[in-house]
Amino acid sequence: MHNLPETPHIPRNLGLDLVRSTETAALAAARFMGLGKPEEADDAAIQAMHATLDSLDLDGTIVVGEEGRLGDVSDLGSGQRVGTGKGPAVDVVLDPIDGRRLLASGQSGAISVAALAPLKTMWTCSPANYMEKIVANQQVGEALIPECLDAPAAWTLSLIARQKSKKVQDLVVFILDRPRHRDLIDEIRAVGARVILQQDGDIAGALLAASSNDKVDVLMGIGGVEEGIIAACGVKALGGAMLVRLAPQSAIEQKQVQEAGLDLTQILSSDELITSEEVFFAATGITDGPLLDGVHFRGRLAETHSLILRGQTHTRRFVRAEHLLQEKT
Ligand code: FBP
Repeated sequence: MHNLPETPHIPRNLGLDLVRSTETAALAAARFMGLGKPEEADDAAIQAMHATLDSLDLDGTIVVGEEGRLGDVSDLGSGQRVGTGKGPAVDVVLDPIDGRRLLASGQSGAISVAALAPLKTMWTCSPANYMEKIVANQQVGEALIPECLDAPAAWTLSLIARQKSKKVQDLVVFILDRPRHRDLIDEIRAVGARVILQQDGDIAGALLAASSNDKVDVLMGIGGVEEGIIAACGVKALGGAMLVRLAPQSAIEQKQVQEAGLDLTQILSSDELITSEEVFFAATGITDGPLLDGVHFRGRLAETHSLILRGQTHTRRFVRAEHLLQEKT
């Protein structure tokens, strides 16, 4: 009998390397704060993140990426390979800027994110664009059941409040400010829960909801599929609870999703979106926000604030780094 090759493990310090890619993307993007140039900011952040990812010892395949407008080798599109090719084979998801409009208008909450897990352990659902999401922390855990996606908000919120030993009126609900959420927002307000209506950036919202710091108790509503998969890496690494279901927002998307054979009734947890515990997540603030402070420039120095999560141990590291700008290549 042949001995099967051992599944190579991801070195535990890879998260510390991964954060270099979100730091360099955030440093590049932060120069565009308030300049009204989201696409230029994206191009700069994509290039910076790509250069750093390619210097890391990993054999990465991008599952969720970001194509810039340059249409050249600097792109980070899905299916593309990153890394030196020498390290572990991994799925990579990234968003050099989540909250481009926030950054372009100088508002809080734009972050740069990347995550990885062993190859073929991340769910893919191309060509879907939107999904319903509900995220809470470990205290809510398995009490977050699929019924929560269809039940009236009052029912779900009282379940979450009970798990967290809070009153419904004390809960803080994070929800993207979109017309599609009008009824949901009315329902939440009717039961007296407090609301953060955020213009953009539901990856940060999901991470806040999955954290134990109670700034946000639950994220609800429909957002991007890609942001959902990236957020699932962070939620899983935090030990939080997350459920999603595809939610096409146009007839065209509905048709494409059905033609691709995707199940619109299937409800998935973060454990089903990311099937390995060996997940690493890194995020760096671009503009100041409730999850992370942004990039601060001071002469030759720039200061970044990042979060690194490791799924196997649920370790959370907050990294404040000072970068000497002329030393950066
Ligand atoms: P970008 O920064 O990539 O534009 O995404 C911002 C974002 O708010 C995501 O956080 C969210 O998942 C998605 O857009 C929601 O999509 P839409 O703006 O179409 O409602």
